[in-house]
Amino acid sequence: MKDKLLAEAQKVLNANFQKEGFTIPSKKLYPFQWKWDSGFIAIGYAHYDMDKAESEITTLLDAQWANGFIPHIVFHTDTDTYFPGADFHQSALHPMSSKKYRSTGLVQPPVLGFVLEELYEISKNKKATLQYIRSQIDKVYDNHQYFYQNRDPLNEGLVYIYHNWESGTDNSPIWDGIFENLDSPEYDFERRDTSHVNPEQRPTKREYDHYLHIIDIAKKYKYDDQKIAAHSPFLVQDPLFNAMLIKSNEALIMLYGLLGGDNIKIKQLEKWQEKAVFQMNKKLFDEDLNAYVYYDLRNKKHIRLISSSSFTPLFAGIPSKKDAENLVNTLVSRFGGEDRYLCASFDPTSTHFRPKKYWRGPVWINLNWILFRGLKRYEFKDLARRVKEDSVQLVSKNGYYEYFDCRKEVLDSGNGAYGGNNFSWSAALLIDMLNE
Ligand code: GLC
Repeated sequence: MKDKLLAEAQKVLNANFQKEGFTIPSKKLYPFQWKWDSGFIAIGYAHYDMDKAESEITTLLDAQWANGFIPHIVFHTDTDTYFPGADFHQSALHPMSSKKYRSTGLVQPPVLGFVLEELYEISKNKKATLQYIRSQIDKVYDNHQYFYQNRDPLNEGLVYIYHNWESGTDNSPIWDGIFENLDSPEYDFERRDTSHVNPEQRPTKREYDHYLHIIDIAKKYKYDDQKIAAHSPFLVQDPLFNAMLIKSNEALIMLYGLLGGDNIKIKQLEKWQEKAVFQMNKKLFDEDLNAYVYYDLRNKKHIRLISSSSFTPLFAGIPSKKDAENLVNTLVSRFGGEDRYLCASFDPTSTHFRPKKYWRGPVWINLNWILFRGLKRYEFKDLARRVKEDSVQLVSKNGYYEYFDCRKEVLDSGNGAYGGNNFSWSAALLIDMLNE
């Protein structure tokens, strides 16, 4: 079975590879280059085609802005199967945006630091891979500098996101409270996603109004970070986003150490790191819920809901051993029932839980991969194995889909897979887990 799954996964990735050198997440539904997708995709390629792995990263970094910003979507080509496209986002409004590529003015979780480390670990030709890393690593460092200089207005070591699309967990119930108080206009537009995927698995029209509205506000300020920090109605410190940044800081420190000669950068990374880890535990760990939660900077309050993002700090080594145990108890008691596969994207014990709808309940393979690595790091071996085996079950029973039902009876019937099919990061990260 393993060989068959691996062969199918390679087929998915190869079919989504584009002649420009990057890989789309899924045909029609996502026809451009997405930032964190490219990171995960590179990890999959590294196991069988290092050139493609490197090309995935190079094409993305080629679209970096002069201020270190790396966009969440790079519009390499024109296609009308996706909305909102380059004409809506208008990245050229920002004076330092890429002159070469059109993009969004949004970011996505900063995975590239640890992705470079993964490429190095997987590589059979460490010398060549290290040389490649040497050619790209400063761009990733500049991106971290962009975050700490521009997205941490209180100088806490925690960066904010100003849009739910920046979180990567697009329509999680986490954002509902913010949107409820928004007076967004009714936009007149033609959705494209719902012509590829059943609407009951995608966000609603009203949610899309809010998504567009927040971007329009950022555009009004020409994507200026200080003005966004002062005026955006959406300004959140997200535990997943910050955990990815912290994990990537750690990877950059390790890689600069291997490369040698960049002590100033290492010192700076260590400074960011120390502050960030401290604040994650002080500000975002909720001792009553025993989980990492979100902080709404605009409305100055915690968002005390639990999602799969709540457990991602394990991957970055953030919690103490004791907090990690409590965190894992929360995971098992709320998400880990016998009748479920791990790990639902949103708390199954909550009234907001929706097992078929996008980030409101289904299992996503990238979050499972992050969790798998985090559980291993803290030596929760049995649970780590369960996450890996569950991921294999999801895919082998249903195919390489975008997200999956966590209810065993639904999933096992073979009708429990949702969103886009032949989805790249599901394939890439399964390759990585199967090679463990
Ligand atoms: C969806 C996901 C996002 C992902 C994108 C492309 O928007 O929410 O995390 O990057 O699809 O796969």
